[in-house]
Order: sequence, then structure tokens, then C-alpha cells
Amino acid sequence: MKQRVLVTRQVFPEIVEALRARFDVEHNDDDRPWPTDELARRAADKQGVLASVMDRIDETVLAAAPGLKVVSNIAVGTNNVDIPACTKRGIRVTNTPGVLDDTTADLTWALLMAAARRIAEGDAQVRRGDWKLAFAMQSPLGTDVHHATLGIIGMGRIGQAIAKRATGFDMRVLYNNRGRIPESDELRLNATWVERDRLLAESDFVVVMVPYSPAVHHLIGAAEIARMKPTAILVNTARGGVVDDAALVDALKARRIAGAGLDVFEGEPKLNPGYLGLPNAVLTPHIGSATRATRMRMCETAVANLSAALEGRTPPDLVNKELA
Ligand code: DGY
Repeated sequence: MKQRVLVTRQVFPEIVEALRARFDVEHNDDDRPWPTDELARRAADKQGVLASVMDRIDETVLAAAPGLKVVSNIAVGTNNVDIPACTKRGIRVTNTPGVLDDTTADLTWALLMAAARRIAEGDAQVRRGDWKLAFAMQSPLGTDVHHATLGIIGMGRIGQAIAKRATGFDMRVLYNNRGRIPESDELRLNATWVERDRLLAESDFVVVMVPYSPAVHHLIGAAEIARMKPTAILVNTARGGVVDDAALVDALKARRIAGAGLDVFEGEPKLNPGYLGLPNAVLTPHIGSATRATRMRMCETAVANLSAALEGRTPPDLVNKELA
């Protein structure tokens, strides 16, 4: 008898087909994220779940699914999954590292440049027939990206991909990370490790790229924002909760910093309503990895991980390594 798999979000037809060749598949075809109780009910008789970052895989879901062997997250981040609870039950958790680095770095740059050059405001002005920005000699003006200082907090694979793109803009790159990256990478990326406070004080653009954990909750709050230059721009394409949204809304409102580019928010899909009236915040709905090629690679990686776990092999991207 085939093992049963739950696919919680709409994925590409070829991905469902590949899964159906090996497993008995229930697929969320109308792509409405299931609330936890429905997710729990549908997972109850499954051995595998292919999940998205919008699915909270917690005690409620796990307790309802005693036969579950693997949660394969179609994401590199796994903060939507209660990993200790899975480990306790012997349930393997996997993610999709490596395949979305460049795509997420591209989006980070898109937000950085959009905030710097006031793209969203300009777009809205053209649609209104308002050409003030085009001809103003003094204000409102944007910020130069080239030759500026870029500060990256979190210099993993994606942080490094972001730094690599800065070389084309002749930027000075500062970074802060728990440990220094190898010297050869620092040289390749022209990046200098500095203390976080110095990075905040000297950067024209501060990019946050750390995976979420309770240890980095509100890593950037009112005190950190206060250290930034009044002309600086903050970009977060990592995870909601790493930046204190209430503090950032206050700072943007008071123009304590010049702007922000944000792809992630606390409590998604909810949004701090304070952002809505702020022209100096450019907002996107968690689309860091959202290109067809990358989403396809993420799905393929997630299927490979899920299949390995259900077929008795160690998944290549096992997160709770104690279950190898
Ligand atoms: C990830 O992979 O963690 C992204 O945030 C989801 O697109």
C-alpha cells in the first residue's frame, strides 16, 4: 500500500504528478492556507507533509498525526515548525537550503534600490499624473546606492550573495555575523567584519539576513534603529520578528531613518497598519524566493527530502540531525 502524503499548498502539476507516482497524495488545490484545526484533521492519516512557511506545524498538528514520519518544508526557514516536538516524536524535518540564495539576494537588492530611489512613490505619482519628483532640484530626492556603505547582518549564503552584488556598485561592505567568514571570502566580497553597533552607525543601507530564532527576536528594535544614520535605509528579507515592526513604524514616521524595504513582517499575513500610510516604506508580501525557476527547485528539493524520509533513507537536507 502507498504511503499517504499531504501537500498543504498548491504546487506545480509536475510536482504533484511526481509525488503521485510514489505516494497517495492529498493536495490543497484551491491554495487557501488551511487553519491549524483543518491542517491537523487532514494530516491525521498521513506519513508525510509537504508544508509551506504559512503552515504552523505545532503540537496540535503533530498530536493528531501519530503516523507522521516527515515534515518537508518548502523553504529554507523552519520557524513555522516545532522542531523539538517533531524530534521527540521521531519525525524528521527538512528544508530547502542553497536553491534560493541568488533569488532572495536579487529581491533584497530590488527592495534596497526601490527604497533608495523612491520607486514605489514615483510609480504612484506617474499613475496620478504628478511629475513633481522628476523636476525637483532639492526635494523629495533619493539616495545614491553606488559608493555607499552596505552593512549586512547575517553573512551566510544569502548574505554573501547580497555582498557579491555590491561589488558592481563600488560599495564598501561591512558585515556582522556570529563568526567571521574565511578570509578568502572576505577578500572576494571586499567585506569587513565589524561589531554590530559600528555597522549600524556607519552603514547607508542595513540589510538583515539572519534566520529567525527566539534569540534574534527584535534584533533590530528602537535602540538599534537609533544608532543608524538619519539618511539610512533598513532592508529585511529574512523573517518577520527579527525587526520590531512597531519600533520601525515609529522611526519611519518620525524620519529617524530615511526608509525601509521589507519583504517580511511580524505575524504574517497580518501587517502592522502603521506601515500603510508610510511613503518611505516599500513593502512586498514575502516573495524573496518567488520566481518560477526557484520555486520549482524548492519543490523538487522538498520532494527529494520527503521521498528519502519515507523510503528509509536519510534526507539530504535533514534539519533535526539527531534523527539521521
Ligand atoms: C524561505 O525559504 O524561508 C523563504 O522565506 C520562503 O520563501
